[in-house]
Amino acid sequence: MSTRGALIVIEGCDCSGKSVQCRNILESLNNQGIPAELIRFPDRTTDTGHLIDKYLRNTADLPDQVIHLLFSANRWELRSKMENLLTNGITLVVDRYSFSGVAYSYAKKNGMNLEWLKSPERGLLKPDLVLFLKLEPNVIKQRKGFGEERYETLEFQEAVFRCFELLTDDTWKYDFGGRKP
Ligand code: TMP
Ligand code: MG
Repeated sequence: MSTRGALIVIEGCDCSGKSVQCRNILESLNNQGIPAELIRFPDRTTDTGHLIDKYLRNTADLPDQVIHLLFSANRWELRSKMENLLTNGITLVVDRYSFSGVAYSYAKKNGMNLEWLKSPERGLLKPDLVLFLKLEPNVIKQRKGFGEERYETLEFQEAVFRCFELLTDDTWKYDFGGRKP
């Protein structure tokens, strides 16, 4: 029987370097002979993912509560696949997870209660490690591609950053981006 894989989550604002760091971690694990796979949320390839993608590219509009629940449903769609992989000894490197779900919705400051925002995430797999790329929105706003999607404005990213900080606990590890973890 193989040892269970680890669930490693990378969080951060848009354009904070998550995708690059995920690839670095994956490469480093594979180089050490640790079987690992990358999972990315939102998974834009599923039915909920298609609608989420339209919303993010501003070609569909949805109430804040609906998009919040869709992001969560998008994670639920992959829950059993993730559990099977972990049980089979595969470590998962996950680009965004429930923390993004809660932080981005809470940053809208439209009265959605924090407990309400967290509740659809209950029952999803618990990460073994959360890495937060703590890159200031003032830096990310200068990055190539910033501004292409719905949430990519300086003001909103600053609100998201503060919400992420609200969600952190002492199990989180911080990284300042741009270098290998
Ligand atoms: P991406 O930039 O990593 O592709 O993520 C797409 C956007 O969706 C990004 O602005 C963060 C946002 N998001 C949420 O609002 N809720 C979520 O649950 C997730 C996973 C992402
Ligand atoms: Mg983005």
